[in-house]
Amino acid sequence: MVERIYLDYAAATPLDQRVLAAMMPFLTTQYGNPSSLHYFGQQARAAVQKARQQVAASLHVSPQDIVFTSGGTEGDNLAVLGYLRAHAPHGGHLITTAVEHHAVLRTLEAMTRRGYDLTVLPVDETGRVAVDDLRRALRDDTVLVSVMYGNNETGTIQPIEEIGAVLKPTQAAFHVDAVQAYGYLPIHPEEEGIDLLTVCGHKIYGPKGAGALYIRHGLQVASESYGGPQEHRLRAGTENVAAIVGLGCAAELLTAERQGRYDQAARLKQRLYEQLVCRSGQIHLNGSLEHSLPNILNISIAGADSAVLLIALDRQGVAVSAGAACESGAITPSHVLQAMGTEDTWLRGSLRLSVGKETTEADMDQAVRSILAAADCIKEEGHE
Ligand SMILES: Cc1ncc(COP(=O)(O)O)c(C=O)c1O
Repeated sequence: MVERIYLDYAAATPLDQRVLAAMMPFLTTQYGNPSSLHYFGQQARAAVQKARQQVAASLHVSPQDIVFTSGGTEGDNLAVLGYLRAHAPHGGHLITTAVEHHAVLRTLEAMTRRGYDLTVLPVDETGRVAVDDLRRALRDDTVLVSVMYGNNETGTIQPIEEIGAVLKPTQAAFHVDAVQAYGYLPIHPEEEGIDLLTVCGHKIYGPKGAGALYIRHGLQVASESYGGPQEHRLRAGTENVAAIVGLGCAAELLTAERQGRYDQAARLKQRLYEQLVCRSGQIHLNGSLEHSLPNILNISIAGADSAVLLIALDRQGVAVSAGAACESGAITPSHVLQAMGTEDTWLRGSLRLSVGKETTEADMDQAVRSILAAADCIKEEGHE
């Protein structure tokens, strides 16, 4: 039996047992519909409201500014489409970066087919955008700027607070995809000048299919769906009560445990870096250790192919990703690494290693041995 080591927490975290316990009643005995006026309905409604408070507290905002969604993709779509529909239905200028998740990039690209102008800002070799580039790109008709907090492939953190300060005196709204950063960084949307912010459950030990969009108080966003008046009339349809309760519980645990999780992940990532990148000239770090989430390390092995590496490592029980998890069915060179100007030698052999609260040092050492062995194999094949 192979002992399995999971180093893909940036794709999905396991459900925390405490979260499962909080969800269980809403999968079994407390099955009311929050829209129903009777006892069962009101119990469910109260549970959704409690979860709204828990998520709001984790972001230091008011519960009325939180809308539950089905996850990161829906949150990003609602932010962009809902904001534009309410504020600039006939066109305008949009700004984003070349390293966004496809939930943002493809939504904005779709807008160009509806007559909007889109500026995609470049990033440097570490994956960071320059605030001056953003300043130069701003136009009188810029309506929306979308920049992610922390990158899902490299962990690179963007200068969100500085961007928020630049945008404050303008009429452009600021959307931030914080799906990856949420689990590790204290986020204060109001202080950081953020108007719309996306988070989701399955990166913070909550359930999949649960997310939230923060909408700055008073900011108009138009619904993309028609039906009932749920979620401040922004998301029609019966709420997924158990998942929302799970997200709320995960958010509360995160608020209490974030710093400890950060410190543990940072220690593990440093160890990975020292054992892989510092020891082998054949292994390259994509991104940098500075301005980076503590749980994600993106490396490349010279001459390797990510898909071949992934499968070889999986056979040895080590689960990693080639980049964004949703892209791993078909592995093409990552748009993030390409935007960073990553050389061809490194582009095709990238691996994303992401740790979590259950990762042990022994796991890491075992994974390192497997990765170094795979790298040696590739080197020998190259010499044959
Ligand atoms: C940065 C980022 N944005 C958005 C998403 C999409 O979230 P979801 O899978 O919940 O739709 C992900 C998922 O990995 C992500 O990492």
